[in-house]
Amino acid sequence: MKRREFVKLSAGAASLLALPAALQSCMNEMNMDMNMAADAVPVIEGAFSAPLSFPAVTTTNFSMTAKSNTAALLNSQSTSVLGYATGILGPTIKVNTGATVSIPFQNQLSEETNIHWHGLLVPANMDGHPKDLVNSGANFNYNLPIDQRAGTYWYHPHPHGKTAKQVFMGLAGFFIVNDAEEQALNLPSGDQELLLVIQDKRIKNSQLNYAPTMGEVMTGYTGEYILVNGSNAPFHNVATRYYRLRVLNGSTARVYNLALSDNRAFDVIGADGGLLAQPVSVTSLMLAPGERADILVSFKSYAIGTELFLVNKTFNGGAQGKQEFKIMKFVVNQQVNDSFVKPGQLSTIQPLPASSAVKTRIMKIKGMMEGNGNMNMGGMGSGMHTINDKVYDLNRVDETVKAGDTEIWEFDNSAGDEIHPMHIHAVQFQVLSRTGGRGALIATEQGWKDTVLVMPGEKVRVIMTFPQKKGLFVFHCHNLEHEDDGMMLNFEIV
Ligand code: C2O
Ligand code: CU
Ligand code: CU
Repeated sequence: MKRREFVKLSAGAASLLALPAALQSCMNEMNMDMNMAADAVPVIEGAFSAPLSFPAVTTTNFSMTAKSNTAALLNSQSTSVLGYATGILGPTIKVNTGATVSIPFQNQLSEETNIHWHGLLVPANMDGHPKDLVNSGANFNYNLPIDQRAGTYWYHPHPHGKTAKQVFMGLAGFFIVNDAEEQALNLPSGDQELLLVIQDKRIKNSQLNYAPTMGEVMTGYTGEYILVNGSNAPFHNVATRYYRLRVLNGSTARVYNLALSDNRAFDVIGADGGLLAQPVSVTSLMLAPGERADILVSFKSYAIGTELFLVNKTFNGGAQGKQEFKIMKFVVNQQVNDSFVKPGQLSTIQPLPASSAVKTRIMKIKGMMEGNGNMNMGGMGSGMHTINDKVYDLNRVDETVKAGDTEIWEFDNSAGDEIHPMHIHAVQFQVLSRTGGRGALIATEQGWKDTVLVMPGEKVRVIMTFPQKKGLFVFHCHNLEHEDDGMMLNFEIV
C-alpha cells in the first residue's frame, strides 16, 4: 500500500473500527519500504575541476527576493533552482553586533514562504514562525535587531510541510555576525576565510529531484551529489598558511563526519553560536543538518602541488555513515610566510550550571517505527515523527516558558533508531550531557549551540536561559523531512 492510499483510507470511508487491522498491515508494508530505503543513497564523487565560488556578500541596504533561477550545479548543465538573488542560495549577510538590519523581502515563488534567521535571537514576529507566511506575490519587511555575540548564523524558509523542498531547491544563506571581541583576535580573514555550505542533492536528467518516498521520510532524503556553495565537487587554491573554514551543513538530512584526507588534525574554534573558549584539536568532526562549525586549518607544512580533500569519514549512524567520500579539494599552489599565531584563548564561556535550572522538560523524540500511540494521519505529513507523542499543530501551544528562566531540556532518543538533530529557536544553549550512543560531547558542543545531534540510542541534555523575547517560537528536528512530517512543537515565552 502506498502512503497516499493509506492516508486516503484512514481519512476516508474506512470505519474507525476497521482501522487497527488496516494499520497493522500498513505498518508491515512500511517495514518493507523502510528496509528497501534504509541506507542513504551512495555519493557519486565528481571531478573536482570546478573552482569553488561564493555567494555575494551584502552588508547594508539590500533587499531579498525568493524566486526561480537557473544555475550550473553539475558540470555546466543548466538546472532550475530557487534562490534569493541570482542562481542558487542567497547572499551572505555580514553585520556587526548592535546593528539593526532591515530587509525588504518579496516572495516571487508560486507558493507561500518566509524567512527564518537560524540562530539569531530576534523578536517572535520576525523569526519566520510557520504561521507567519508571506504569500505568493506578497512582501514583508524583516527588521532584525542584532543583540548577540559574533557567530556563524544562517537563514532559510520555514513554511510547515514545505521547508525541506524549498531548502533543497536552493533557498538558504549565511548570516554572519561580527563583534569587537572576535575582531580583536585577527583570525584569518578576506581570502583566508572560507564560508562553505555543504548540501547533498538528488539530480535526475540535470534537474533537482525532490520526491521522498515514505522510507525516505523516515531516514531523511539524501542525494548522490555533494555540493559546496552550490557546485558539485569544487576545488580551491590555497597558500601555505592558516585558513578559517566556517562550515554549515545545509542538507535536509545528511550528516557529515568531516575530516582532511590525510587525517591531519585541525582546530575547532567555534560552533553555532560563536567562538569556543579555546581551540580544540580534532581529526574529525560530526556536523548535522543545521549545525555550523568554525575551524582553523593550517596548510603551512604542505609542499606546493599538494592536493588535499575535505572528506566525509564513515561513522556509526544507522542509515547513514557507511561510505567515505570526498567533498571538496584544496590545491596548495602558493608559498607564503604566515605570521598568524593561533590564539590560546578565544573567548570566555560562562557555564550554566545544571543547578541553575528551575525546570527540566523531557522531550521524547520518536521516529517512524517506534509505535507512536497517536497515529495522526492528517495534516501536512503522515505524522510518523513526533515529540512527546505529538505531531505539529500550528495553533497549539505545547510548552510555556518564562522569560529569564533557565531550564534543562532532555532530548530522549534512547529507544530510537533514527538520527535527530534537535533545534530550538529564540535561544542559544549549552550541551550538558550525552548518555547512550556516543556517550560524550564533541568539540563544538563546548560552545553555544542552537542545534544538537541526537543519534540513535542517545539522550542529550541542554541548558538555556530564555530571553526577554516574548511570543511564540518553535523547536523541531532539523532533519527537514522529519520536521515537515510534524516533528516540531510550539513553545511560548511569556
Ligand atoms: Cu533552521 Cu526552525 O530552523
Ligand atoms: Cu532556527
Ligand atoms: Cu528527526
